[in-house]
Amino acid sequence: MSSKKLTLFEVRRLCLNDPVGYFQQMKGEKLEFTRFGLSVAAVTTDPEVIQHILLKNAQNYRKTLMTRLLLEPPLGKETVFTSEGELWRQQRKLAAPAFRLNTIKGFAPLMIEEAQNLLDRWDQIPSDQRQIDVQSDMSMVTLKIITRAMFSKQSDDRDAAAIADAVRTMTQFRLQFIDFLGVPKWVPRVSRLRSYSAKRVLNRAARSIIAERTKSGESKPDLLGMLLSSVDPENGQRMSDRQLEAEVRSYYAAGYETTATALTWVFYALHKFPDVEAKLHQELDAVLGGRTPTYSDLENLPYTLRVIQETMRLFTVVPSIGREAIADDEVQGVRIPKNGVIVINIWLTHRHPDLWEKPENFKPERFSPENSIGRHRFAYLPFGGGPRICIGASFSLLEAHLLLAMIAQKWRLRAKEGYKPHPIGQIVLHPKGGLPMTLERRR
Ligand code: HEM
Repeated sequence: MSSKKLTLFEVRRLCLNDPVGYFQQMKGEKLEFTRFGLSVAAVTTDPEVIQHILLKNAQNYRKTLMTRLLLEPPLGKETVFTSEGELWRQQRKLAAPAFRLNTIKGFAPLMIEEAQNLLDRWDQIPSDQRQIDVQSDMSMVTLKIITRAMFSKQSDDRDAAAIADAVRTMTQFRLQFIDFLGVPKWVPRVSRLRSYSAKRVLNRAARSIIAERTKSGESKPDLLGMLLSSVDPENGQRMSDRQLEAEVRSYYAAGYETTATALTWVFYALHKFPDVEAKLHQELDAVLGGRTPTYSDLENLPYTLRVIQETMRLFTVVPSIGREAIADDEVQGVRIPKNGVIVINIWLTHRHPDLWEKPENFKPERFSPENSIGRHRFAYLPFGGGPRICIGASFSLLEAHLLLAMIAQKWRLRAKEGYKPHPIGQIVLHPKGGLPMTLERRR
């Protein structure tokens, strides 16, 4: 499966302690299936193979046992994230209007307001105490944004911190050795217990959001409103409370820590590449001149967006996704056996020298329209691809674009001399222990 043929023990150790080391070794130049515990698996970085799996023959693939082990205990089996087949199609169709461009444009004012609240808070910090953890500040702001945008609910710092804590427990619990062996889900695992308790915290939050809305009798055009008014086309029934809670949990699990982590890496990249930071400041100063941006300013801030895109290439937030074949298949003359697992190594695809010129260089310009000509559309996959591409991709980019424009206008963030982040995480790669940085006022 890898060029070095790692043992299961090594794979587990690397996945848990040094995921970047693991992805570096999982080359996947040629699709080659090898036994991996109880399953057979292959790794790929080839955009043609990736396109086949995620798009061209997507109906033959489902999420892997490992993904189910990570996501089903906290989310359940029936959410847009975890379901398959007809149920997934229905859930996706139901939620889609909440993520259309016309809808998400309307979220810009609340995103700006929450970003301003963060800037106001930073303004209050005495100048000799301006050390922050970027990851946790970004998480709080993106969590408040998702709660307002999707559920039209304002949350205070205490509520937001409780939810953030639960989501973190849920996404950071450690897989056990039997999980790597491919042992079926029904075999009990102690590691799930923490995840179940995180689920209870999220459920309480979901229940209170749903109860508040139902009690008010209001119908609002947000995600929750769409879920509440949806009717099953076959039996005419509304979504059960259990199902609604699961959907709310899912959007919390998927919809803010991801964007917060992308922004965290953006600020690390700006610290590491001061020439990029200088260009970013030039664009922001020329277009905004210190004023708060609006949605319509964003089209005049292309370099700001490209900084985010390039960060998501080199500091890949979701470093891999997996699929399992439902029936035998074939791609590029290689047989894919039924139940065979394909690991799409996004981290390495984003650094592949056949796909990217000088891949180790941080160059936002590579995302300009002229420099993107000829690039394979499955060479860049921060949000996955095909029908199961991230539903929140445009929402997340809009949010990151506005937040970066507002923050970088006012503040420069600096890490300690010699600081080197250690990326860690089983679904989302974030700096271990957060990202400690000092705030320096720009103007
Ligand atoms: C930088 C931010 C984000 C990143 C890097 C990211 C990444 C991804 C990736 C790679 C997938 C595909 C997983 C797979 O194919 O196995 C995905 C799916 C998904 N994402 Fe995101 N995501 C981000 C933000 C968001 C936001 C803001 C939301 C919601 C508000 C969201 C909701 C979802 C959902 C519901 C799915 C499942 C879609 C489906 O299976 O139909 N994500 N995301």
